[in-house]
Amino acid sequence: MNDQQITRVPLIAGNWKMNLDHLQAIAHVQKLSWTLKDARHDYGEVEVAVFPPFTDLRSVQTLLSADRIPMKLGAQDVSPNSVGAYTGDIAASFLAKLETSYVLVGHSERRHGHGEDDQLVAAKTKAAVGSGLVPVICVGETAEDLEERGAAAVPVEQLNAAVAALPKDSEIVIAYEPVWAIGTGNSATPEQAESVCAALRHSLEEKFGSEQASRTRVLYGGSVNSQNVASILRLPNIDGVLVGGASIDSQEFARIVQYRKHVTAA
Ligand code: 13P
Repeated sequence: MNDQQITRVPLIAGNWKMNLDHLQAIAHVQKLSWTLKDARHDYGEVEVAVFPPFTDLRSVQTLLSADRIPMKLGAQDVSPNSVGAYTGDIAASFLAKLETSYVLVGHSERRHGHGEDDQLVAAKTKAAVGSGLVPVICVGETAEDLEERGAAAVPVEQLNAAVAALPKDSEIVIAYEPVWAIGTGNSATPEQAESVCAALRHSLEEKFGSEQASRTRVLYGGSVNSQNVASILRLPNIDGVLVGGASIDSQEFARIVQYRKHVTAA
């Protein structure tokens, strides 16, 4: 695959999980954007996206639009259905109306905490694409999977299942998040992460061809912080990071966004 010639804009994404109410969200995004403005951050060179809880989306959208902050908005979940009697669910079209660009699907906290299986993740992925959102398809192995089947087998199976019903050329982002690395302070080594991300890209190439595989961004997630981000993002098949805990601290997240400065400083 000749993917070195395609430039993929790195994506630094903050998954807030169930943190920050809508008032805290406004203060957080304001601080983050001021810090990045002071640092003259170029959002075209390194894309930044935040994934707040549903109740914050409208407030953050209004702030981004009023202050013309070129940060992208993402949601943490989506219904596989389009409209109707689905109490508590949120349709992809509603998210699109809020200028939401991305939506997480298949996060391990939904797979494991809410029993979401590959079939449901595939339906959510399809619903997202159908409404013009870019699904961030989360895949990753548990510690047991790692021991029994190695690192790549389960993530590759989860990815194949999630994209099974997608039309070719659909824009997606893949996030490799080993379950054992999430929230533990124990990130995968850059080499481990690179080898699974390369396997995921290869699998995408087999299904959709090399051009789409070369265009698609593959992120790493799991205990990313400002200390380890630069070494992770130096690898050829890793095009960004999905940050949990460290995205709640605006200063720390701003440092992660500016990972290129750590590289030059090192
Ligand atoms: P942590 O960065 O807190 O490990 O969480 C990773 C994650 O689950 C992002 O989606």
